[in-house]
Amino acid sequence: MEAHMNSISTTPPLAADLISFIEGLPKAELHLHIEGTLEPELLFALAQRNNVSLPYASVEELRAAYAFTDLQSFLDLYYAGAAVLQTEQDFYDMTMAYIVRSRADNVRHAEIFFDPQTHTERGIAIDVVFAGIARALREARERHGFSSAIIMSFLRHLSEEDAFATLEAALPLRAEYRDLWIGIGLDSAERGNPPEKFARVFARCRELGFHLVAHAGEEGPPQYVKDALDVLHVERIDHGVRSEEDPALMKRLAEQRIPLTVCPLSNLKLCVVDDMRKHNLARLLHAGLAVTVNSDDPAYFGGYMNANFMAVAASLRLSRTELVMLARNAFEATFLPAAAKQQLLLELDGYCMAH
Ligand code: ADE
Ligand code: ZN
Repeated sequence: MEAHMNSISTTPPLAADLISFIEGLPKAELHLHIEGTLEPELLFALAQRNNVSLPYASVEELRAAYAFTDLQSFLDLYYAGAAVLQTEQDFYDMTMAYIVRSRADNVRHAEIFFDPQTHTERGIAIDVVFAGIARALREARERHGFSSAIIMSFLRHLSEEDAFATLEAALPLRAEYRDLWIGIGLDSAERGNPPEKFARVFARCRELGFHLVAHAGEEGPPQYVKDALDVLHVERIDHGVRSEEDPALMKRLAEQRIPLTVCPLSNLKLCVVDDMRKHNLARLLHAGLAVTVNSDDPAYFGGYMNANFMAVAASLRLSRTELVMLARNAFEATFLPAAAKQQLLLELDGYCMAH
């Protein structure tokens, strides 16, 4: 942790005009786990509301525990924290807090992961999870024009059979949530849980017409990125930063413009990189890949969308042109219908012309 603090403090501060340019830039967020937006304050409030006892005396003590050495060290705390989510109102409150926070960062569209198995394993009905998240997203759409979609993700440390059971439990809800539920994802512990483990359930989801994405190449090897593409047939790769180790894969990702949903502060916090100045986001972008910036689990990793943009802008000395390319890539990589996508791209163009 010391090393991270030092490397951040030696990064030159961003110029004020670049800060305000990033703040106002219209953004799409494509890699966000709703359970990872549970801030310590809300986590404590929900624990109290639901009579859940926590092994931490205070919000500060909990926050101090967020010193991770790898993905698993984070996942242990993340799954433990999710235990405070019990009622539809809890899922609503968490989702609404994310919406408020991301609207402040000028996020114009979000495609949001949720992990039903984290909750059904604890005896929470899957309907409760869908209902609370959807109520907040629909309210935000109606009141503020906040555009969003949800991607149900399977936990890869569990079996494929468990993923199939989750799919079966969720499918009766599909009609009710047709306006939001667009895709299927794959997350949790990557190493030792390769894409092939979920080949059959992803094939089924593909037949059902869902958009498909998967985490790959975060801690796992470039082979997992290839297998996510060739075996699971995903349309976007979540993270994918280790693709750089395989030049042929890099060429393919660039040629096919397969989006990578990169999460800079997550990579720093989970020690995927030990210094933001060494992050490969700019190299991936310059190699022609469709790189996007995202916040992953912002309550745990120290920042939402603007903080992620600021961190790479400062550490990698990104220009306005590069920042706009990142924002544009994200709008292009959304699963929105063509007309809605075009409208957001026009909004981005308008912003760039005015600044
Ligand atoms: N679940 C939540 N955040 C994750 C990440 N960064 N990688 C894998 N699984 C996750
Ligand atoms: Zn993630």
